[in-house]
Amino acid sequence: MYNFLHVPKDTNFLAIFANVNKKVYIETYGCQMNVADTEVVFSILGKAGYVRTEAIEEADVIMANTCSIRDNAEQRILGRIDRFVVERRTRPVIIGIIGCMAERLKEDLLSGGKVDVVAGPDAYRRLPELLAAAAEGHPQIDVILSREETYADISPVRLDRNGVSAFISIMRGCNNVCSYCVVPYTRGVERSRDARSIVREACDCAQKGYKEVTLLGQNVDSYNFEGTTFAQLLGMVAQVSPSMRVRFSTSNPQDISDEVLLTMAAFPNICRHIHLPVQSGSDRILEKMRRRYTAAWYLERVARIREIMPDCAITTDVIAGFCSETEEDHRMTLDLFETVGFDAAFMFYYSERPGTLAARKYPDDVPIEVKTRRLNEIIDLQNRLSLESNKRDIGKELEVLVEGPSKRNPSELCGRAGSSKMCVWADSAHKAGDYVRVRVKDCTQATLLCELV
Ligand code: SAH
Ligand code: SF4
Ligand code: F3S
Repeated sequence: MYNFLHVPKDTNFLAIFANVNKKVYIETYGCQMNVADTEVVFSILGKAGYVRTEAIEEADVIMANTCSIRDNAEQRILGRIDRFVVERRTRPVIIGIIGCMAERLKEDLLSGGKVDVVAGPDAYRRLPELLAAAAEGHPQIDVILSREETYADISPVRLDRNGVSAFISIMRGCNNVCSYCVVPYTRGVERSRDARSIVREACDCAQKGYKEVTLLGQNVDSYNFEGTTFAQLLGMVAQVSPSMRVRFSTSNPQDISDEVLLTMAAFPNICRHIHLPVQSGSDRILEKMRRRYTAAWYLERVARIREIMPDCAITTDVIAGFCSETEEDHRMTLDLFETVGFDAAFMFYYSERPGTLAARKYPDDVPIEVKTRRLNEIIDLQNRLSLESNKRDIGKELEVLVEGPSKRNPSELCGRAGSSKMCVWADSAHKAGDYVRVRVKDCTQATLLCELV
């Protein structure tokens, strides 16, 4: 319920009275950034009198916070819109598309009459206004990108159900123009959020009992707020509470600095895990992708990470079948995977995104059967590497943050080690948010099977 004793200064009373108790349902797709954005959207709508619901059948407003990164992500969401429209047959419902697809497809989403509101990632403050106008029967769109918006002053409504782990967005947009990537077009230019507001949010998380925060940006190493670097910010957040873990994502190989690695090494509560997307093992392909590093540079960064933190997990993203990729290029990717021995990877085949540099410059010329075959070869290799990585942990004692009961077996708990690896163990004494020490007894490719010590 709205608390009238603590009315924020910027409150629009008319909007509140119009919307009191209107129920909003939001489905979130895409990356962690979108999850964090949905939390911001719930906060903005909450101030305007809306309440959150997890039941689509009772929602007055149904929204999807969307992703454009690959064609299949978009196709899935277009299918969901048809499902949303079914709800509108029985009652008045406002349907909103927000996020990256809203930004990419703009007015096109309004044609066909299925969608009432289209709002891009920098237009969320206007959502109460847009929804109110749409309720009067006028479809609304705001896809203006901002150079300043960071939602720094907004306290997100946390969605993590067990209250253990929180996302903190530290920057928005991206200034790299990797040739395959739609993100710079959907999220706009890079901006760093005020470091003080980030630390304040981390303090707030600690006070509310969160045990882990993940700092989010497309390229965290290029964070810079009035001279505060990412390494400095990381140190500041790590000092908020020694019992609150700090994670971050994503690190770009071209920018990850020794300063960041040394800061990680200096604070035991910064998790020993770096997500370092490589995309390809071939220098020729990396250049076409406009990634500004070579395979040798990447391997040097990996070596430096391991020199400074021998126990640091390294995970990656890779794209199979980018424009003009040959068998030899593909081999180089497999070789790089083998050399690094990644702990885990997100693996995709190339999906051409309209308007990107690659779509304009290079034909999407690797046949789909070849793309999927190469992707499957990478997946098979990574499955083996993940298993080998997990086997290396057998016998080790790890500190794990409890997330809750394991999905497979309710008498077991699950939680992540600092490396981000999922652990399960028999336990009836602990609960979500506790730290426990476990010993790894066995493993599968996806999970460490442990016992309490
Ligand atoms: N900012 C991050 C990546 C964000 S997108 C970085 O630079 O590493 C997440 C991943 O999606 C990318 O790392 C890439 O592997 C994949 N991806 C992006 N565009 C893609 C496309 N057009 N086709 C297939 N995969 C893509
Ligand atoms: Fe996309 Fe490259 Fe920016 Fe990552 S760094 S979001 S891959 S343009
Ligand atoms: Fe997708 Fe947008 Fe994230 S395109 S991956 S939701 S930044």
